[in-house]
This record gives sequence, C-alpha cells and structure tokens, in this order.
Amino acid sequence: MIPYLPLRQINALYDTELREVISSVLDSGWYLKGEATQRFEQHYAQYIGTRYCVGCGNGLDALKLILQAYIEMGVMQRGDEVIVPANTYIASILAVSACGLKPILVEPSPDTLQIDDSLIERAISPQTKAVMIVHLYGRCAYTAHIGELCKSYGLKLIEDNAQAHGCEYNGLRTGALGDAAGHSFYPGKNLGALGDAGAVTTNDEALATIVRSLGNYGSSRKYVFDYLGCNSRMDELQAAVLDVKLRYLDRDNQRRKDIAARYEREVSNPLVRLRIDGNENTVRASFESRGSVHHIFPIFCERRDDLQKFLADNGVETQIHYPIPPHKQHCFAEWNHLSLPITERIHAQELSIPCHQALNDAEIDQVVKLLNAFR
Ligand SMILES: Cc1ncc(COP(=O)(O)O)c(C=O)c1O
Repeated sequence: MIPYLPLRQINALYDTELREVISSVLDSGWYLKGEATQRFEQHYAQYIGTRYCVGCGNGLDALKLILQAYIEMGVMQRGDEVIVPANTYIASILAVSACGLKPILVEPSPDTLQIDDSLIERAISPQTKAVMIVHLYGRCAYTAHIGELCKSYGLKLIEDNAQAHGCEYNGLRTGALGDAAGHSFYPGKNLGALGDAGAVTTNDEALATIVRSLGNYGSSRKYVFDYLGCNSRMDELQAAVLDVKLRYLDRDNQRRKDIAARYEREVSNPLVRLRIDGNENTVRASFESRGSVHHIFPIFCERRDDLQKFLADNGVETQIHYPIPPHKQHCFAEWNHLSLPITERIHAQELSIPCHQALNDAEIDQVVKLLNAFR
C-alpha cells in the first residue's frame, strides 16, 4: 500500500534530532512560554520575512486571534464583513463567524482554483473590513490586483497560510504578503508539529502585542487582564519540534516540487486533469502553479469516486479535499440554498494523490502508471 501521508515515516526523517530536543524540553522542566517557543518564533518570523511571529494553539485560533485583535483595535466590529474564498477548508470561514463577523463567500477561478480576484470588488460593501485569502493546496492566492483593491478600499488583507509554508511570490513568502497571516502546524502540514500548534505573523507591532495577550487570557502581565482573551499558546515541545523541522522545510518542499513536476510531466490521461474545466487541461498541459509548495496535489476527474476506488484497489491511498463545500454543510444552514457552481464542481471532482517528502521514486512510478491506466 502507498499511504497518502505516512506521518511516522515522514517524522522518522528527523528522528535523532527530534528525540534530542524532546528530551531536552522534558529535562528543562519548563513547558510553556519559554526559550524554545521564543526561538521558534524568531526563526519562523525570519523565515517568513515578517518582524513578528506569535505562537498559538492551532491554525484556527491564529486566524481568530488576528480578527479579535482587529476588533480590539477598533479596525472592525462585530457584524462587519470579511471576504473569504468559498473553496477552502472550513476553518478559514469558521474563524470569521466565530468572531461575530460575517463571511462573504467568493467563488474561485477555475484556472487557479484560488479566490477569483475579478469577483472581489463587487463583493465589497460599506461593511467590508477585510479580505482573507487562503493559499489553498500550497499555492499562492495573492495577486497584485487583490493587494491594490485592499489598499484602495482600506481593507485589511489577512492570509490563511495553513497550507503553504515556504510558498514564494515575487521573492516574498506567503505569510508576509498581507497585514497579518495565520499559520497551522497541524501534523499533516508541510511544517507539521507532533500535535496542534499555530502562529500569527505580521509586521504590525500593535497587532502582534494584542494577539499575544489575547492568546494568554488577555494578559501581558501576570494576573492583569486587559482583554477578554482565551488560552491558545504554543507549547515548548511543539516549538522545539517545529524548530528542527523548519531547518529542512525548503529541502522537503523541493522534494514535493520535484514529485509534482513528475506528475505534471508523466501523467497523460484525458480523464485526469489539473483543472476542473476544459478538455485540453490534462495533467500534461502546461500548468502555472505559481511557486506552489504542493501541500496537496489535486487532480480532477468527472468519475472521481471510480478513480479513487481504482487507485485504492491497486494499493494507492488518496484523499478528497474536500467532499462537501462549506456552504453545503449543516453548520452553515443559512447558505445551503446558495449555488456556487465552481466550488461545487471542485468538491465533486477533486482527488488528492500522495505528494510528500518521504515518497520514493518507485512509489511515484506506481502512482503515474495507475493514473495512466485508468479507463
Ligand atoms: C486552509 C486551512 N485553514 C485553517 C486550518 C486550521 O488549522 P488547525 O487545524 O491547526 O486549526 C487548516 C487546517 O487544518 C487549513 O487547511
């Protein structure tokens, strides 16, 4: 069996170093808000290219803390609108609604599968205070047009960088392109912890200070509470683990890029495509993945479930990102009537094939062979 994402095998790549730092945190007797977290925050800020990085409990909290901090700063208030892509993992949207803000869903472009920047302007209302872009699948969702729109309408640009650690756009890294970014270090991410962890990156000192306080019960001095905060802190073990894996992130992302390039070059089957529309877009067609770090390698097939079964029957595990779009979920009943055809087609046709740093050449050969054999 070729597993989709064998985390044990992936983390075995850093085995000796991980065991060393885990032991050292254990021996230190200091498990929260210590040197390991400080060190990782410093290294990650440097890596992303922002002045500040604040560790927190997970990626959902990172996005919520950014929005809560903007509310505390008076930049937005409950009831205001935040533009988000309709095609995303539900966390991006949940962060907005959990803060009492209103998510405004915008369809993706069928070419890039990212938020369609030509549809954003007409979604802006007097209540709009921010645009949240999501670098889905590890691909950059930022465009110069989005940057200009945010500037000219005075909107905050928030990046959901949960899936794109290390992705580059014009020499900058995602996570440094907007006003603030939320990162997830969920174990399956490109930079994955051994449990939950997240971070906020920003160049805005006031925002970073409030985010840090909000995630620490609203406190920056012991037993003095300035905000109605929560408990969302990165722990020392996760920070130490992430600091080790960060050293290998570029190398690991390069391996993902090489694997993706092989898929793009070698898979040739009109039933298997890189986009949702058009006949010419087989995997072989030239494909602009814009510096992707390939957190997910999505392919599209009208008979997706048959393809998934064919691959499983022949020993290749795949996943679907994601089977039900956010606006069709029970928890968002008020949107269930909406028709967002591109988002819906993506959810009906998407299949994610193995693409990670522990995948070997023989396994890639096998995946390619099977994709070409599907009828
Ligand atoms: C696009 C996106 N945003 C946010 C999150 C939330 O991150 P976490 O699971 O760490 O809360 C995830 C991943 O789970 C994600 O894929």
